[in-house]
Amino acid sequence: MLVGRPLGFDGLFLQSFCPLCAKVIGTVHNDREAIHYQANHMIIRSSSSGFSHPVPSDITSQAAYQSRRDLMRQLAAGSAGLALAGWGLRDAQAQMTRPGQLPPLASVPTKLAGAVVLDKPTSYKDAASYNNFYEFGTDKSDPAKRAHTLQTDPWSVEIEGLVKKPARVNLEDLLKWGAMEERIYRLRCVEGWSMVIPWIGYSLADLIRRVEPLPGAKFVEFVTQADPKTMPGLRSSVLDWPYLEGLRMDEAMHPLTLLAFGMYGEVMPKQNGAPLRLVVPWKYGFKSSKSLVKIRFTDKQPVISWEKSAPQEYGFYSNVNPNVDHPRWSQATERRIGEDGLLAKKRKTLMFNGYETQVGQLYAGMDLKKFF
Ligand code: MTE
Repeated sequence: MLVGRPLGFDGLFLQSFCPLCAKVIGTVHNDREAIHYQANHMIIRSSSSGFSHPVPSDITSQAAYQSRRDLMRQLAAGSAGLALAGWGLRDAQAQMTRPGQLPPLASVPTKLAGAVVLDKPTSYKDAASYNNFYEFGTDKSDPAKRAHTLQTDPWSVEIEGLVKKPARVNLEDLLKWGAMEERIYRLRCVEGWSMVIPWIGYSLADLIRRVEPLPGAKFVEFVTQADPKTMPGLRSSVLDWPYLEGLRMDEAMHPLTLLAFGMYGEVMPKQNGAPLRLVVPWKYGFKSSKSLVKIRFTDKQPVISWEKSAPQEYGFYSNVNPNVDHPRWSQATERRIGEDGLLAKKRKTLMFNGYETQVGQLYAGMDLKKFF
C-alpha cells in the first residue's frame, strides 16, 4: 500500500517508487519517503470555496453543545489538563460547528467510556479532502474529486452467513437499528498520519445482536461497494476488489466499534464512505471499511484485501502498535493532519491508538508481533 513499493535490489538497498506519482524515490528508507511525500503529496489543499467555513446560520448539534458543556465543566474543574494545551475553547467551538455542506444527522452525546478524546478535532476540510478510498484513485485528493459518482440512494446492506436472521436491510431501516451517538475518535493510518474525527453512528454490536449470530460465527467479514461504472479506481489492480475487511467476533462486538453514518454533525460525505462505514479506532485506518454493502458471519478468519495484496506487510489484526514497525517504516510516531509541514514535530503513536484501557484485554496473552 501506501508508501512506496520495493522494486528490487539497488546495491545494499531496496529501491522504492512512489505509488502516487510513480517516481523512483530512492531507497525504502523511511525519512526519504516521508520527505518525498511531504514535498509532493502531503500538501493539504486549502480551497477558498468556503468548503468548511461555518456560516452564522449553522445550527450547533446537541452533541456538539453537550461536549462543549462537558469541556466547560472539565475546564472549570481543571481536569481537561494537557490535552487542551494549545487548543483554546474558541477553537473548540469553531471546530465543532456544523460545516453546512450536507444534511444534518441528529445524535446524542455518547456515554461510552473512552469514546470522546479531547485532542483537537481535525478540520472538516482536511477530513473531507485528504482521503484514502482507492475505489476512486490512489491520490489523497481523488476521492473528494471523484466520489460524487457514488450512488447512495437506494442503498441496502446484506447480512448473511452464520446468523439466525439473515436479511437485506434498507438504509432507512438500518438508521433506526441503534441510537445515533456522536463519538470523537483518533484515526491512525498505517501510512503514519492521523486525524481526530467526530463521527455519528451506533455500536456495531447493536446490529449484531439483532441478527443473532449462530454459535459457530467466529468472525465478521465486511464487503464494500465495487461498481466499475461509478468507481474509476477499480480499473487499477492495486487491490483485489471488492475491498474486503474483517474482525474477530469479540472485536466486532466491542462497544467502541462503530457503524458510522455521519461526521461533524452531518451525513457521511461520499469520499469518507457514504452512506455507512465502519470505524475501529484502535486499529490502523484501513480496517475501517467504507461504503458497506455486505456483512457476513463466518467460522473462518477472512483474508482481508490488504493482507492478500501484501501479506508480509498487512496483517489481519493491524492493531495500532508503536512497537511493531511496518517492514518499510517505523510506526513509533505519526503526523497529525493539520499540524503538517516539514518542520512540524511528530507525535508519539500510542499503543492501540490510545484505547488500550478499553481494548487491551481482547489481546491478553497474544504475541502482537506475530499477530500483527
Ligand atoms: N474503505 C474502502 N472501501 N476503500 C479504501 O480504499 N481505505 C482505508 C479506509 N477504508 C479504504 C477504506 C484507509 S487506508 C484509511 S486510512 C481510511 O479508510 C481513511 O478514511 P478517511 O478517508 O475517511 O480518513
